[in-house]
Amino acid sequence: MQKMTRLVAGVVFVVIGWGLVAAAAEPLKPVVLPAPQLDKGRPLMQVLKDRQSRRDISPDKKLSLQELSDLLWAACGINRPDSGKRTAPTASNSQEIDIYVATAEGLFLYEVKGHKLDPVLQEDVRQAAGKQAFVQTAPVVLIFVADEARMGRRSESDKAFYSATDTGFVSQNVYLYCASEGLATVVIGMVDKPKLAAKMKLRPEQKVILTQPVGYSAK
Ligand SMILES: Cc1cc2nc3c(=O)[nH]c(=O)nc-3n(C[C@H](O)[C@H](O)[C@H](O)COP(=O)(O)O)c2cc1C
Repeated sequence: MQKMTRLVAGVVFVVIGWGLVAAAAEPLKPVVLPAPQLDKGRPLMQVLKDRQSRRDISPDKKLSLQELSDLLWAACGINRPDSGKRTAPTASNSQEIDIYVATAEGLFLYEVKGHKLDPVLQEDVRQAAGKQAFVQTAPVVLIFVADEARMGRRSESDKAFYSATDTGFVSQNVYLYCASEGLATVVIGMVDKPKLAAKMKLRPEQKVILTQPVGYSAK
């Protein structure tokens, strides 16, 4: 009888294990985002009244693809197709801030021109995206990375100043979108940046500036 129990347990273990391996082996694909819904949103003054940092982010309720599309477009999408300029300003229009999107499934790069997500790593990097527990379980963590290779011949201190400033605009756009849509978010500076950069396999000129988890409130 004991032998039989062991055999059944063994078969169940193998089947579940194989299922997990099969699921994990499914390669990440590019995600074409739906067009952003530009006729949405509450009046600006009410959104500003509600803008706040919220850390009660539910790990369970995911954002829809439409919400992710709207969120990323609001953050730094192209709002003037003729010039390719964006919802957030950058010093000398260097557009050096990339948004990486970390989810349980893996890491993606928001490709602004194509308004899509390009797969970067089939690994959950959220545990390195912030020291606070709610960051590591948020359904979406935005990681703001400055690519200093796009910043021309500036001094190191100027590069640091402009990339931090430019990230602030993107982050505030995320705050405002979340306030408009009733989502929870908070910008995060408490990040082990070298650890996160290593996990993301960034080039030396790519600097992690801040992260920003987004999700529904757990309350
Ligand atoms: C650059 C920056 C870094 C921050 N880092 C963190 C952080 O690591 N963890 C956190 O919980 N909140 C962080 N915050 C959020 C602030 O604590 C929050 O903005 C402040 O308490 C004011 O609250 P409010 O955003 O609701 O007005 C950060 C805010 C800024 C602007």
